Amino acid sequence: MSLSVVILAAGKGTRMRSNLPKVLHPVAHQSMLEHVIDSARSVNSDNIYLVYGFGGELLQQRIQGDDLTFVEQAQQLGTGHAVDMASPFLKDDEDVLVLYGDVPLTKVSTIEKLINAKQKDGMSLLTVNLANPTGYGRIVRLSGNVVGIVEQKDATAEQLTITECNTGILLANGGDLKRWLGNLSNENAQGEYYLTDIIAMAHGEGKSIHTAHPETEIEVEGANNRVQLANLERAYQLRKAEELMIAGASLRDPNRIDIRGNVTVGSEVLIDVNCIFEGNVSLADDVAIGANCIIINSQIGQGATIKPNSIIENAIIGELCSAGPFARIRPGTIMKAGSHVGNFVEMKNTIMREGAKAGHLTYLGDADIGKKVNIGAGTITCNYDGVNKSKTIIKDGAFIGSNASLVAPVTIGEMATTGAGSTIAKDVEDNTLAVTRAKQRNIQGWARPTKKAI
Ligand code: UD1
Ligand code: CA
Repeated sequence: MSLSVVILAAGKGTRMRSNLPKVLHPVAHQSMLEHVIDSARSVNSDNIYLVYGFGGELLQQRIQGDDLTFVEQAQQLGTGHAVDMASPFLKDDEDVLVLYGDVPLTKVSTIEKLINAKQKDGMSLLTVNLANPTGYGRIVRLSGNVVGIVEQKDATAEQLTITECNTGILLANGGDLKRWLGNLSNENAQGEYYLTDIIAMAHGEGKSIHTAHPETEIEVEGANNRVQLANLERAYQLRKAEELMIAGASLRDPNRIDIRGNVTVGSEVLIDVNCIFEGNVSLADDVAIGANCIIINSQIGQGATIKPNSIIENAIIGELCSAGPFARIRPGTIMKAGSHVGNFVEMKNTIMREGAKAGHLTYLGDADIGKKVNIGAGTITCNYDGVNKSKTIIKDGAFIGSNASLVAPVTIGEMATTGAGSTIAKDVEDNTLAVTRAKQRNIQGWARPTKKAI
């Protein structure tokens, strides 16, 4: 059977105190709405209808997909009215799932439970038992069967003692839903068209109403302000941290890691505190990541060690490499097996071949560093003449003395050596020493300048 998802996202989100529509506020660098869309897609939805009220232009700019239809709800007349905006699109013989754009942490497994709970001729509801149900719609049962939902403001004193609450997430047949929505009235305490009123209608028609429940409350919590948003962020991060640990990684502190994308880990991976991972990152077996590292869209090979305070972006770090502390590895860098970069080394668009080393204070840009090359402290590739970028090629086994300026384009031959402090602007042949230092003069008895009288 086909499945359509209606995502309610028309609320203005005044309490965010923001120009951004509420549902575009991020959890882990991805808007809440995109998290919900991801969940909808994970349960194989065929169509997604996004009911919006504010910031439609921005939403359509930011959120895209062939399966998405934007449906405007110009006036927020209630949740039932909001879902009804999608009615013209819904098919009679499909299932329709209602989700909320500001409730981003619902697990796919929970939505699957809701889908499985629905009988052929019935509907299903996601409900949750809350110690403090204040503000929520209450699930009214008779002899154990759900017969309706009553909103806080419409409830009797007795109904207010019910702790089983409506999360708002539900699943119904498209034809049923459209019929029920068409019959809603707004004669209630809030003067709104309540989606929740369809439950009593379903019961009145003799439909079966089954319930499913989330594992934890956070799955059905929304964010109305930035405090609640931060709360969702932390819950999401802890969930991600737990996934990594279950996959075999050791985290020094699962409360001090941020994952803003997808991280895959091999076995015996160790991650110290305060690391941030963005985009797609893979850490192979036996990788160790020191404290305070930021790793973005990169692959770290087996047994590699990334020491504290290193930043790695769009790079491939090979097996048994080491980098840092304080390494800055910028896009387009490839470190081949067993190569090493140490403190305050910056690399961009550079290949470090097997066993090459740059231990300290170095900038390597647009460079090809051969096998077992040793780059002395303070070496700089002068890759930019103010207009063009040029390449530095250093062949296998070469030794670059400390504090060298390599003026690109330039090639240093195999097993060649450059003297410390040299500015190398011409190619150096294989097995050759290049030195460009001025000869040292020692002036005996030289007197230091003295302060002039004014
Ligand atoms: C709703 C439920 C309540 C449930 C609670 C869970 C109804 C009548 N009540 O109450 O039973 O316990 O959620 O949080 O459904 N929205 C629109 N257009 C509208 C109105 C709302 O898109 O015209 C969206 C809002 O942006 C929000 C969601 O629907 O994302 C829920 O609306 P809200 O007004 O917060 O519903 P509650 O009163 O909390
Ligand atoms: Ca609410």
